[in-house]
Amino acid sequence: MQTKKIFITRNIHPDAVSRLKSFAEVDIWPGETPPSEEFLKQKIAQVDGVITLLTDPLTSNVISSANPGLKVISQMAVGYDNIDIKTATEKGIPVGHTPGVLTETCADFTWALLLSLARRIHEAALEVSQGIWKPWGPDVLVGYDVYGATLGIIGFGRIGQAVARRARGFNMRILYTDPERHIDLENELNVEFCTLDEILSQSDFLSLHTYLSETTYHLINKERLAQMKKTALLINTSRGSVIDPTALEWALINKVIAGAALDVFEPEPIPAESPLLRMKNVLITPHIASASIHTRQRMAHMAVDNLIAGLEGKRLPFCANPQIYSK
Ligand code: GLV
Repeated sequence: MQTKKIFITRNIHPDAVSRLKSFAEVDIWPGETPPSEEFLKQKIAQVDGVITLLTDPLTSNVISSANPGLKVISQMAVGYDNIDIKTATEKGIPVGHTPGVLTETCADFTWALLLSLARRIHEAALEVSQGIWKPWGPDVLVGYDVYGATLGIIGFGRIGQAVARRARGFNMRILYTDPERHIDLENELNVEFCTLDEILSQSDFLSLHTYLSETTYHLINKERLAQMKKTALLINTSRGSVIDPTALEWALINKVIAGAALDVFEPEPIPAESPLLRMKNVLITPHIASASIHTRQRMAHMAVDNLIAGLEGKRLPFCANPQIYSK
């Protein structure tokens, strides 16, 4: 039997790579930044399976160049908006992803951002590291209370729900909006289903947990930001393009809202000239919500599980386009 060829677009956990090496020839992109679209196009034409990350442009053009024997695209992320699913599906290529394993890690991180932003921890730590320790004063680095405040959650899937679970310990009023109403969870988590308008106008903290689609692209635009409280803080650990970056700049410069904590941005990396980088009430991290040692290891193994199933012609355990199996 001919040895299978695999391409991995970045170095992933060595234990996961070893599992693959036991039966396939594995080629790993050595860079820390993603391979180009052109490079991916050449690679995908030569291999039987590929493990990708959310930074890799798996465009229609790339997928259309795939080796006719390409059995699987396995993405090491829960989101897969970087992959042209339509083209993959048309070509009968299963696309794997890694839902579930990163839920709690991302919810923890969302809370880390929320608390830091509310209590100005990033700002205070920066001052201290720069040698500025302002003497205790009644209004030095005062922030917003979290306990008892209203938290709005847009997108009530696994991560949104995990964020709500943590909010109960802070005795918060929790509002959510989602295409689907989750009546069973409303009692269990003490959450209230709201319209988007209600959530925008009532939340002290607004946290985004929706995936990126045509409907959620620039969901948070100028009009919607204008509906928020002047004291509201916006947290985004979903996808950068859920927020219109120009509208957010406008809202923060004009004090339409009080601050933002963003783990994702449109585009990534955030351009060096963005005024948001110089605002004290803005906390930006480089898309690391799932970055815990344990979770990244589990994600790598899950991506390998999907890849192996694909190579063996079996149904992927976590498939983003299961419709290919009903064809
Ligand atoms: C992270 O953003 C992911 O989609 O896994």
